[in-house]
Amino acid sequence: MTQDEINNLNEQTDIVSLVSKYVKLEKQGKNYKGLCPFHNEKTGSFIVSPDKNIFTCFGCHKSGNPLKFIELIENVEFPDALKMLCDFNGVKYEGRKTQENPNSKYYKIMDTAKSFYNKFLLNDKSADKALEYLKSRGITDDIINDFEIGLSPNSYDVLYQVLNDMNYNELDSSDIGLISSNEKGKYHDFFVNRIMFPVKDDRGNVVAFSARKFYNDDPAQPKYINTKETRIYRKNQILFNLNLAKQEINKKHRVILHEGQMDVIASYKSGLKEAVCSLGSAFGDDQAKLLAKYTKSVIIAYDGDDPGVKSAIKAIEVFKRNGFDVHLVLYPDNMDPDEFVLKYGKEKYVEFFENNIIDEVEYLFRVTILNKNLDDKNVLNKVKSDVFNLISSLNSPILEEKYLKRFSDYLKASYEAVYEDYQKQSKNNGNQKVIVKEVDPTKDLNKECELRLIYYATKSKKLALEINEKINNDLDVFSESSLHLWFSLLYNYYEEYDEFDEKLFLNLIPENDFNQYKHLNLVLGKSLNKTFDEEDLNKCIEKIKDMKISLRNKVLRDRILASSDDTERSRNIDEMFKNKRNREKRAHN
Ligand code: CTP
Ligand code: MN
Repeated sequence: MTQDEINNLNEQTDIVSLVSKYVKLEKQGKNYKGLCPFHNEKTGSFIVSPDKNIFTCFGCHKSGNPLKFIELIENVEFPDALKMLCDFNGVKYEGRKTQENPNSKYYKIMDTAKSFYNKFLLNDKSADKALEYLKSRGITDDIINDFEIGLSPNSYDVLYQVLNDMNYNELDSSDIGLISSNEKGKYHDFFVNRIMFPVKDDRGNVVAFSARKFYNDDPAQPKYINTKETRIYRKNQILFNLNLAKQEINKKHRVILHEGQMDVIASYKSGLKEAVCSLGSAFGDDQAKLLAKYTKSVIIAYDGDDPGVKSAIKAIEVFKRNGFDVHLVLYPDNMDPDEFVLKYGKEKYVEFFENNIIDEVEYLFRVTILNKNLDDKNVLNKVKSDVFNLISSLNSPILEEKYLKRFSDYLKASYEAVYEDYQKQSKNNGNQKVIVKEVDPTKDLNKECELRLIYYATKSKKLALEINEKINNDLDVFSESSLHLWFSLLYNYYEEYDEFDEKLFLNLIPENDFNQYKHLNLVLGKSLNKTFDEEDLNKCIEKIKDMKISLRNKVLRDRILASSDDTERSRNIDEMFKNKRNREKRAHN
């Protein structure tokens, strides 16, 4: 298509009805208004102007023409967006003469099978039992529609006949795992009498099926049978529900990873639509990279049972390796999310979920001591050794103290006694490191300190100003998100109000900083004693000053090495040594 044709296409698009496919709009004067689909908000700052044929968000500043809207909302590249815009306008897409996707013939067959299974479930008399089963698992008609769930008939070749009638090539259908042939070359259906969950790629193409049995008369039959790997299905590159979840992931800046599709569906049903899972295989690097296109913040919500915990620990490593910010939820009583929703209902589930998001250290700590019989001396020693290994691997004195305290409470022993044991083991091990290897200790400690300072600054305006006075010149060691919070608190919030009020404050900060604030609350609000601790405050200030000096000295060192001007060099060397001396002096006091 030429640029002129693209311009015309944009112009002829009714942007209001295009956007309305995704966003509920209300008329307001000449324009339309709604909740922005690109960031999380409670009041509408998203405006669609039919006159100018553009959309604009005053919150996140995204704006553009219809084509841009499709690119953003569908998270697709230009050519795909253009094709969708053509479809929307009923215009034939004349792409640059690229050859057709070689897989599209397979997608077509898969799509036919999906529709057939879905109709069979909804319309065939013999489907009663399957529908009853789905109902007993809390799967409503809406869910059946959204996920296009189906039923494979209890016969050996009904799908085969259907595909035959549509003149699809038998070899193609067999290549993608829908039918298979016996020794005599006679074809039969691969899936028989099972509930069919279509598995889709992130664009919504059906690439596989996961099929669950729904009757209990043959225990030898596996619970799930999934499509084997085919030319359109690489199981470690697909995440169930990513096609539906991606919009919500973009909006909430996080993704929830579950263990199975029933959990994803339970989550989705409860309103947590940013949920995905891998199917029939462990979560791997390719899947992490796929998710990284949308967000780098994950909440792993696997089953609370032993295999669930083991897989979660593996998934933590995969995510860390790929640069993700990792949190987890641990369910009580070995439950999985699906069982939780069925037992306690959607509202209770979301409430539990949101209030039990913990970081990976907390998670590892909890699962190490979970369900252990500490009256047994051997068990006790093993738990102690595991916990100590975990704690020493953190490389953070602050976290070390925190978890040793927690652990001593848990053991109902004195902190001193536990600390002594801990020291003994560290010495014996020569301080070996386990599990959480990827943490950069300096960075983590740094983050803890800045979060603590923000936390203390919420205690009173006076205190906030005092802290600011002290660290004003050192703020460049703060992470960007902490810096945002700090400035909002000091220069926006306390300019207007004298007392800290969380609600008012949250109203004032940009939505992007919500996460950092939440993190602050999660990490500190719950675990730290809520009272003000002057000693800790001073420690944190010192730490920040230290960080600043290291940062400054690093710059100076680079300059000294690079410089050929003698006076400049000696000036820099002087400053570097002065910094070092000051630092040592402070450490002494
Ligand atoms: N799985 C599989 N093949 C099996 C068993 C499990 O592919 N024979 C996959 C499925 O994707 C399943 C996930 O592993 O969703 C987790 O298994 P499990 O916890 O046993 O099942 P649930 O998800 O709890 O399934 P359900 O609630 O339907 O019993
Ligand atoms: Mn389950």
